[in-house]
Amino acid sequence: MIAAFLIRWKSLTPDQQSAYRWGLIVAVIGGVLLLLPGRESWHAAGPRNIGHTKTACLDCHAPAPGNFVGQAFNNLMHATGVSDSASHFIYAPAGNEQCLACHTNPDDRHPVAKFMEPEFTKAREAMGVQSCVSCHQEHLGIRVSVTPRVCQHCHEDTALDDDPVDVPHTTLISEQRWGTCLGCHDFHGNHERTVPKLMSEALTEAQIQQYLDGGLSPYGHRRLTVIQTMRLQQKE
Ligand code: HEC
Ligand code: HEC
Ligand code: HEC
Ligand code: HEC
Ligand code: HEC
Repeated sequence: MIAAFLIRWKSLTPDQQSAYRWGLIVAVIGGVLLLLPGRESWHAAGPRNIGHTKTACLDCHAPAPGNFVGQAFNNLMHATGVSDSASHFIYAPAGNEQCLACHTNPDDRHPVAKFMEPEFTKAREAMGVQSCVSCHQEHLGIRVSVTPRVCQHCHEDTALDDDPVDVPHTTLISEQRWGTCLGCHDFHGNHERTVPKLMSEALTEAQIQQYLDGGLSPYGHRRLTVIQTMRLQQKE
């Protein structure tokens, strides 16, 4: 490979050789600049979740194993097909452990740990419901990344005795109107609110989507914020 490269190199005109040298130097300087401390945002995957503009990278990312030269080399080998797996570059990915360190909620109506149970195998395979980041991808600059229709993976059989809603749940479900659920219910049950009984009082799908995308909450006050969570954890 090196011999082939040298033959090719010698066949280039001095001008071409010089252009390649400069290209290489610029690439190396660019790479080094990118890795200097304080330049983290340059290689962030994208803007953070709406609530996380002040959350430090290291609150969620442990440094990835190995040094960056090794990581870069392995990723190059991966890109060229020599190695099967890419390394995590600079940061290891974050998961439930990091999220829950700041967002524990003992009253969560949908705690992720519950979804490890066998009855949720299909929902796990379809949507990864056992992981916060399946529904809250971090670097999109939004609040919630999952489709509101995610409810369909677990609530197909939901039916209420004496359903108080003007269009009963069984009808909503048989008509596959999964986009309506978040119009009356929040997901984690963390908001102080009266659940409407009339479809005309439900949030529209556009109102739901603007909230998921990072707009103001139409659900009212939250019971627990991160600061309260931290106090709760200190008491334990
Ligand atoms: C609140 C937690 C959180 C914060 C804060 C955060 N990240 Fe992330 N980051 C994640 C998660 C989760 C992923 C996995 C992909 C996803 O869900 O978006 C990720 C993915 C990445 C990736 C891709 C990693 C890979 O191996 O594929 C990079 C690079 C990255 N983050 C850099 C940063 C930088 C730089 C900052 C600070 C400016 C930062 N992140 C802040 C949670 C976070
Ligand atoms: C170092 C603490 C910290 C970590 C770790 C953290 N968050 Fe946050 N998060 C915050 C703070 C602070 C806010 C904004 C204030 C608040 O929500 O109480 C926030 C806000 C949010 C919001 C928006 C809340 C809203 O309605 O405004 C979501 C969604 C969220 N975090 C999910 C996650 C997920 C998912 C993870 C794991 C990838 C995570 N957080 C990790 C501190 C953290
Ligand atoms: C199956 C999808 C799903 C999973 C898994 C999930 N969320 Fe959410 N999350 C949502 C939806 C939908 C909303 C918007 C409705 C609401 O506010 O409850 C939301 C809202 C939030 C909010 C803002 C409202 C509030 O309750 O303060 C925070 C913070 C949050 N999620 C954190 C987390 C954390 C931390 C995890 C993991 C422990 C997690 N979520 C797992 C779907 C999910
Ligand atoms: C991974 C499975 C899963 C997903 C996805 C899911 N749920 Fe649930 N949900 C459950 C389980 C389990 C319960 C508790 C047992 C029950 O009542 O069915 C529950 C309970 C509820 C309750 C009743 C809570 C209470 O305290 O009475 C509401 C309301 C609810 N879910 C709404 C939703 C909405 C809205 C969505 C979609 C945004 C959704 N769920 C998505 C599994 C899920
Ligand atoms: C028009 C408002 C409205 C819509 C739309 C709506 N619900 Fe409800 N839901 C209610 C009310 C009211 C209750 C009963 C009071 C309560 O539990 O909060 C309820 C109760 C529930 C319960 C608790 C059941 C139990 O046995 O206690 C679940 C689970 C639920 N809804 C899921 C869903 C799902 C999934 C969807 C989407 C197909 C949906 N809801 C759409 C208003 C609504």
